[in-house]
Amino acid sequence: MPKRVYIETQGCQMNVYDSGKMLEILQGTLDYLPAEGPEDADLLVLNTCSVREKAFDKALSRLGRFRQQKSLRPGLRIAVGGCVASQEGDQLLRRAPFVDVIFGPQTLQRLPELLRAREETGRAQVDVRFPAIEKFDSLPDPVATGPTAFVSIMEGCSKYCSFCIVPYTRGEEVNRSFADVIAEVYALSGQGVREITFLGQNVNAWQGPHRGQILDLADLIRYASAISGIERIRFTTSHPIEFGARLIEAFAEVPKLAGHLHLPVQSGSDRILARMKRGYTTLEYRSKVRRLRMARPALSLTTDLIVGFPGETDADFAATLALVEEVGFDQSFLFLYSSRPGTPAASLGDQVPDALKRERLETLKALLDSKARALSQAEVGKTLPVLVERRGEPSEDMLSGRSEANHWVHFKGPARLVGQMVPVFVTEGLSNSLRGRLIEPGPGIAEHERTRTQVA
Ligand code: SAM
Ligand code: F3S
Repeated sequence: MPKRVYIETQGCQMNVYDSGKMLEILQGTLDYLPAEGPEDADLLVLNTCSVREKAFDKALSRLGRFRQQKSLRPGLRIAVGGCVASQEGDQLLRRAPFVDVIFGPQTLQRLPELLRAREETGRAQVDVRFPAIEKFDSLPDPVATGPTAFVSIMEGCSKYCSFCIVPYTRGEEVNRSFADVIAEVYALSGQGVREITFLGQNVNAWQGPHRGQILDLADLIRYASAISGIERIRFTTSHPIEFGARLIEAFAEVPKLAGHLHLPVQSGSDRILARMKRGYTTLEYRSKVRRLRMARPALSLTTDLIVGFPGETDADFAATLALVEEVGFDQSFLFLYSSRPGTPAASLGDQVPDALKRERLETLKALLDSKARALSQAEVGKTLPVLVERRGEPSEDMLSGRSEANHWVHFKGPARLVGQMVPVFVTEGLSNSLRGRLIEPGPGIAEHERTRTQVA
C-alpha cells in the first residue's frame, strides 16, 4: 500500500509553491500519494510561516493537533518545514519532542533523505541550513495542475527591511539559472499551462548569465513570452528599488505581460520608510507608478501596507492615506505591524498602542475597499480577456477565470473552455470579483488578441 502524505501550508505564495514541490518530491522518490486529510495520512507536514507575531505559538498549536493523531497511530510521522522551522531549528524539538523531521525552505529537497534517516536511526532529524542553489538543482520536473503555474526564479531576500524576518529564515537572494527557468516554462506550456507567474521575494532583483550577457527580469519576460502556448506572464513580489527602466518598458512592449503589478509600498510617510530601511521615498515610488502608467495606462496596482510601525504618528498615517488616495490601489494586503524577535525594528521604542493600530487599520481598510469597489465597477461594460481556470462556482454551469488585473470573473459557459483565454463582457462589478457574459462564439487566438488590444 502506498503511503499518504498530508501537507498543511501557512503563509505566502512561496510556501504554497514549496508545499507543491514537497509533494512532488515525496511522490517521485518515496511513492507517497496525497492524503484527503490528516486522519488518513502516514506523514503529516506542517509548512510554517513566521512573518507575523505568534507564529511559533500558531505552529505549536497546529502541531498539538498532529500529536493527537500520532497518539492514535504511533507509526505516523510528523515533519515541520518553512520559516518557523528555519528560525527555531532543534529548539522546536524541545517544545514538540514528538516531531520527527525539521527542515527549512532551503532543505525541502532533503525531505526523503531526512525521513529515511529518521527510520534508520530512530532519532528526530533536523536540517535547516541554506544550501539554496542545491534546492534549485534538485527540484523535480514541474507538473501542471491547471492552466496557471508558479515558476520560482529566486530564493531568499537580501533587502533586510528593518521589520522583516524573511532574510533570516530564507537566507539571502539566490538566483535560479536562466536555462532552468526557461526549461520549466517550456515544460509547463507543453502541459497546457497558459499563464505563468515568476515567483520570489524580490523577483526584479533576478539576474542570470546567458551567452556572455547578464540578463534581467525584463529579458526573462521577453524570452518566456516567445514560448508558444504561454499567453500571460505575471511576476511577484517586486521591490520598488530595483524597478528599473527596462522592466517598465516591458509593460509597454510585451503584450503578454499582464497589466497588473503587486508593488509593496509599506507606508506613505518618508520618515517611516526610512525607519523601515526600504531604500526609497514616496516621491520615488510615485514617480515609478507614473512611469508605469505611461507605459501601460490600464495598469492595475496592488500593494502591501504596514499599519502601526514603531513611531508612526497621526501625520505619518495621514500620509499613508493620502498616498492610497492618490495612487488608487486595486486591492491591498494590510498588515498590523508585529515585532519579530531578531529584527532591528524589534528594538525600536515607541511602539504604537494596539487599539490605535487597529483603529488605523479599519480606517485604511475602509478607504482601500471603497477604491477597490469603484475600480471594480469601472470594469463594467468592458470586454476583458479571461483565462478560464475552473468551473462550478457558484453553480455547475458557471466558469471562473482571472482577468489581466487579477480579478476573478464569473460567467456562464461550457466546461470545454477551461484552460482557454476567452473574451468576457463585464456586466457587474462586485467588491471582490466581476460577473460577465461570454462573448460567443468560442474565440480563436486572433479574436482574443484583438480584444486584448482594445482593452490595453
Ligand atoms: N518581498 C516583499 C517586498 O518587497 O516588500 C515582501 C515579502 S513579506 C514576506 C510580505 C509582506 O509581509 C511585506 O510586504 C510586509 O507588508 C509584511 N510584513 C513583513 N514583516 C512584517 C512585520 N514584522 N509586521 C507586519 N507585516 C510584516
Ligand atoms: Fe522582507 Fe523587505 Fe525582503 S519585506 S522579504 S526584507 S524586501
